Amino acid sequence: MIKYVIRGGRPLSGEVSVSGAKNAALGVIAASSLVEGVTRIENIPKILDVTLMLEILRELGAKVRLVNGSTVEIDSTSIVNTSASYEAMRKIRGSYYFIGALLGRFGHAVVAMPGGCDLGVRPIDQHIKGFEALGAEVKVKSGFIHATAREGRLKGAHVYFDVITVGATINVMIAATMADGLTVIENAAKEPHVVDTANFLNSMGANITGAGTDVIKIRGVESLHGGTYSIIPDQIEAGTYIAAVAAAGGSVLVKNVIPKHLECITAKFSEIGMSFEEYDDALLVSRTGKLMKTNVKTLPYPGFPTDMQPQITAALCLAEGTSVVTEGIYDNRFKYVDELKRMGANIQVDGKVAVVEGIESFSGAPLCACDLRAGAALVIAGLAAKGTTEIRGVHHIERGYEKMVEKVRGLGGDIVCVDVPDADELSEVG
Ligand code: EPU
Repeated sequence: MIKYVIRGGRPLSGEVSVSGAKNAALGVIAASSLVEGVTRIENIPKILDVTLMLEILRELGAKVRLVNGSTVEIDSTSIVNTSASYEAMRKIRGSYYFIGALLGRFGHAVVAMPGGCDLGVRPIDQHIKGFEALGAEVKVKSGFIHATAREGRLKGAHVYFDVITVGATINVMIAATMADGLTVIENAAKEPHVVDTANFLNSMGANITGAGTDVIKIRGVESLHGGTYSIIPDQIEAGTYIAAVAAAGGSVLVKNVIPKHLECITAKFSEIGMSFEEYDDALLVSRTGKLMKTNVKTLPYPGFPTDMQPQITAALCLAEGTSVVTEGIYDNRFKYVDELKRMGANIQVDGKVAVVEGIESFSGAPLCACDLRAGAALVIAGLAAKGTTEIRGVHHIERGYEKMVEKVRGLGGDIVCVDVPDADELSEVG
């Protein structure tokens, strides 16, 4: 077990380079299992979720070779299994993309119900609706999803999603890539990682148009070939460093970004007083004065992302006046608020709405991260706080942020990762 220890109160400065996008990498890794040949994927983030996805691929029979820290070669020609173990699958949400991939390539998949952050109810009914429309029979039995194409191969169809869902859009798109005929997905999610997964598949020979709009058309192909693909930069990691500068102050050049993907984030941070200078693939982020209050509602892309909600809330705790943060995607994404309150935050949560009264400063405290973005919010608060903050549960953070401690230290933040003796860990459970 490890914990982060942060001595806060230092403004951030310097440069930070953003890694490849977690949620794009998960889609692309699963989609690579459709390919008969070698796929070389570059700009892969070095995070726990990616390691787990690659483990699942190996378990299915693919050959996976790490070329260097951020490049991996996957040869899925040898995939023989169409079922993956509960152990690997349950730990990670993105594992559900293997249902679409295996069903699309082999007409059969047995995959454990997915895990992921506990953000309230996270049904997969829209994934199932999509697979059924494509001619699959889907049953959930003893914690596993069993999906079988009735005619051996999926058949193109119209799929209309009742809610905008990133996961089901990517999953059904992957499944339809090698289906017989045309699939049209309506009310599709438009997130950059949906587009990235479509671009990856197209570069391997798929025929997908419209990704990034709410109608995606997929004309099924017989097979996909190998190739090289580079994952887009992580919009949420970049946003997290923007929120850190907002809370702690300073000026940071956030490198390796696609500024267009960040507009939904920078628009809100501009409202609260942050300034941005845009370059081709970098943003200079600065806080010069006091933060100002604002209201935020999380929405599907291009709205403000739910995956940035805890981080902006941490920054708004230090803004002048009262801000209202409304969670528009999940039922229960304010669990971290109790931890911020230990640092002196003044936040009232009622269901999906948090009312945040600005305070002068946070005071350092012992904290526990309950999920990935919650953990990021606690790091942000710790960097801005007076005194020392200790954060446990940081395995959640390491699921999705590459080298956060190293990157923050590179910006002058005083953060270290230390081992927690087992006995110490146990004494806290009781
Ligand atoms: N939903 C349904 N039925 C479904 C699928 C989704 O009702 O079949 C609902 C969900 O309950 C939720 C909403 O639709 O209320 C959106 O869910 P979505 O499917 O878009 O989310 P997801 O695919 O489970 C991905 C990311 C999340 C991110 C969301 C929203 C991955 C692996 N996860 O989750 O990332 O919050 O999209 O953008 O791509 C994170 O990175 O911290 C994270 C939680």
